[in-house]
Amino acid sequence: LGKKVLFLSHCHSTNDMAADLLKEKLQIEGTTIITQDQSNGRGQRGNSWESEPGKNATFSVILKPTAISAQNQFQLHLITTLAIHGALFPILGKELKIKWPNDIYYRNRKLGGILIENTLKGSRIENSIVGIGINLNQTHFSNLHATSMIDITGEELEINDIIEQILIQLEKKYLELKGGQLKTLKTQYLRRLYLFDQVGKYETGGRMFEGKIVGISPSGLLQIQENEMIHEFAFKEVAYK
Ligand code: BTN
Repeated sequence: LGKKVLFLSHCHSTNDMAADLLKEKLQIEGTTIITQDQSNGRGQRGNSWESEPGKNATFSVILKPTAISAQNQFQLHLITTLAIHGALFPILGKELKIKWPNDIYYRNRKLGGILIENTLKGSRIENSIVGIGINLNQTHFSNLHATSMIDITGEELEINDIIEQILIQLEKKYLELKGGQLKTLKTQYLRRLYLFDQVGKYETGGRMFEGKIVGISPSGLLQIQENEMIHEFAFKEVAYK
């Protein structure tokens, strides 16, 4: 991955840029778009992704995971968050966590997130745009819940070095997935999962409850145990409180 890289000083959104490139002509798998400044960076749930120009990692990678069916698209979330975790773990250690399904957390703060957008051919994924935003050298945030690498370690990082490490890890995990290693990847995922096997507060359809994350279903649903019952939730059905 990352054999073809496009560096843009600014753009609307690297995910949108990747989608435009895919419309124009066939793009080789692994094509990566990196920018210093997005005017319309997009996050989950239609939110915008704010990032101070020139301070953070904001990029998108084009994958062509044609063997993965649409219903298994969580596998791409799994390898992408594992790859980010793998790249940052040597710097941050055990407090670094993957928060299901799109976030990277350090203690109780958000360090980064992913936005994966797929196009389908029949029931299979044709193109996947894997958008990644990680806060590196930004020190001020409007959201109190956010943090950055510099906030945590006090040290400024070279943005492209971090992106390179993430791409190396993503390629590795992607090959493992294609090589039939899903079970091992899932075990790694659960070990790094935020609030796994711990009691936490959640909200679903206006109801608050206490429960323990006990697993992830084959299609990527979050399994939370409340008393003796195990509930399964899709992304928009549950909120961490
Ligand atoms: C989230 O946590 O809500 C997901 C954030 C994803 C942000 C990245 S930055 C690069 C890529 N381009 C976008 O417009 N969004 C993703």
